[in-house]
Amino acid sequence: MTVLLSIFPKRRMRRSRSRHIQPLLREATITKNDLVAPLFVDELITVPKPIAAMPGQFRYPISGIAEVALGLWNLGIRSVLLFGIPKHKDAVGTSAYDPEGVVQQAVREVKKAVPEMVVITDVCACEYTDHGHCGIIGTSRYGTDLLNDPSLELMNRIAVSHAKSGADIVAPSCMLDGVVSSIRTALDEEGFEEALIMAYSTKFASAFYGPFREAADSGFSFGDRSTYQIHPANSREAILESQLDADEGADILMVKPGGFYLDILAEVALLGLPVAAYQVSGEYSMIKGAAANGWLNEKDAVLESLNCIKRAGADLIITYFAADAARWL
Ligand code: PBG
Repeated sequence: MTVLLSIFPKRRMRRSRSRHIQPLLREATITKNDLVAPLFVDELITVPKPIAAMPGQFRYPISGIAEVALGLWNLGIRSVLLFGIPKHKDAVGTSAYDPEGVVQQAVREVKKAVPEMVVITDVCACEYTDHGHCGIIGTSRYGTDLLNDPSLELMNRIAVSHAKSGADIVAPSCMLDGVVSSIRTALDEEGFEEALIMAYSTKFASAFYGPFREAADSGFSFGDRSTYQIHPANSREAILESQLDADEGADILMVKPGGFYLDILAEVALLGLPVAAYQVSGEYSMIKGAAANGWLNEKDAVLESLNCIKRAGADLIITYFAADAARWL
């Protein structure tokens, strides 16, 4: 500190901050190429349905999803992440791998309308199970819980059915051990060597997924996700998870939530694979809520939040602000 102070007036940091110099020296910049727009497709509706906990976001009917994708494409968004709300739920998530399931149909619709759109699908069972957990439930040593190995086959089926429908990238979000290598093997066996895997490698058991429960109808009937998602306090565990997913063959690693976990993001970025950050539902709704009350400037807050995620090391950012940001950039 004394060293730095002693340099003044030779070292003047503000010299580089003048209006004409500053843009030349800027480090992180977000572009439209970095943005992925999550979309909710609901098999039970015929007109878009607003999501109350996420002002400005909607569930879309299958029949309307192509138009939404085209709109995003025309704004310069190159990728969407699809979530499905099925008409049928059961204990073992059968409709998640139905060739005529909601996501499978939605992928085909989007690809037909905008073939170049990079379609990512969420590979998980929580929207398709009646108990709302991410796979098969059974009895473990400590009571009822998500069973790891019995759920892997389910994930394989879901991933393969998404790839068959035309998904470019499958994104397992269930936090099962071994799910990346399991899905990789299944995809390769079915001839989908070219399908990428974006692993939700570092997914924390976060309260900030709250609004998503309404958005995707994926609330759980008992317990929570703390036996499969990472505790927010743990960073070494988080990095190890990402390392393991990298070793298992993940093409892209993801940190989720994004904004509160920038230390993790910065470290995961050092592993050498492309890194995605997911600015989750709660992060969206917080900014929306504050902006609606006039407590902060929405555009400035959104662009700052995205820029900080980029600065920390994200190559791509999954954000419900994708369309707005594309308009503002
Ligand atoms: C499914 C899944 C969730 C989210 C993405 N995929 C919910 C959860 O894990 O509880 C959350 C996304 C968001 O909050 O925006 N497992």
